[in-house]
Amino acid sequence: PIILTQSEFRNKDSLNYPFEERGLQFGDGIYEVIRVYEGKYYLFEEHVDRLYRSAEAIKIEIPQSKKEMKELLLQLITKNEMTTDGKVYMQITRGSAPRDHIFPQSVEPNMYAYIQDMPRNKEALQHGVSTITQPDIRWENCYIKSLNLLPNVLAKQTAKEQGCYEAILHRDGKVTECSSSNVYLVKNGKVYTHPTTNNILYGCVRMAVERFLKDADIELIEDAFLLEDISNADEIFLSSSTSEVTPIVRVDDKAIGDGKPGTITKQLQHAYESDAA
Ligand code: PDD
Repeated sequence: PIILTQSEFRNKDSLNYPFEERGLQFGDGIYEVIRVYEGKYYLFEEHVDRLYRSAEAIKIEIPQSKKEMKELLLQLITKNEMTTDGKVYMQITRGSAPRDHIFPQSVEPNMYAYIQDMPRNKEALQHGVSTITQPDIRWENCYIKSLNLLPNVLAKQTAKEQGCYEAILHRDGKVTECSSSNVYLVKNGKVYTHPTTNNILYGCVRMAVERFLKDADIELIEDAFLLEDISNADEIFLSSSTSEVTPIVRVDDKAIGDGKPGTITKQLQHAYESDAA
């Protein structure tokens, strides 16, 4: 495969990644995961905008303009002749320099991006998934899509070890999001989710979900729901670039509603499919 690194396209085998790299040593960088359907980016502008927002938040100056970045990312698809469903992973770090917490002077950020095939998870989309709940032990700036994912990794691994797909995170009983997705609760025809504060990542799919809800005249209440609301929920679902809109049918071993994907969730899945098509 062909990898985009800095502004160059290189064969994967010719890559030689430095070991004194701030992404590796400090998690000092940011990333994006962009969904691709049949070789076309979905929610492209939203992802590129968020990439620049994250970079600005941690004071990384991306050498390319947004326009140049978009052009490079589009070329990554064409150079790989990608026509399948998949995703692009990209990251930008502060760069390579002798290890020191302080920002290095006049060092260029390191960036790479690559494609990966990923068929849609039909099973999860159709039947829904099981989740656990976990305390949200992350820092105060979760709106930055930073490379520091250890709490997310540990939460998701715990879910996996319990046969579950995701971990629903909460701060003092208030649900924030999942380890790698946003989460929503439906009660009496209204949708509840955490407001877009610094405590969660504002998902690009969430931006789309907000649009779908508006179009369908369904009220979105941006107010965190509580752990104790979960057992009385009519529906719960999550959203992300890799999981799209996925129904959550079990939480901590208890069924949500009748244990099947709910009506509003399914409506949003249809809206997603037409939007992404
Ligand atoms: N994760 N919240 C967190 C903590 C996330 O890591 C993600 C995405 C989301 C959803 O964002 P979006 O709708 O833009 O994909 C919410 C990606 C997919 C990942 O880390 O693999």
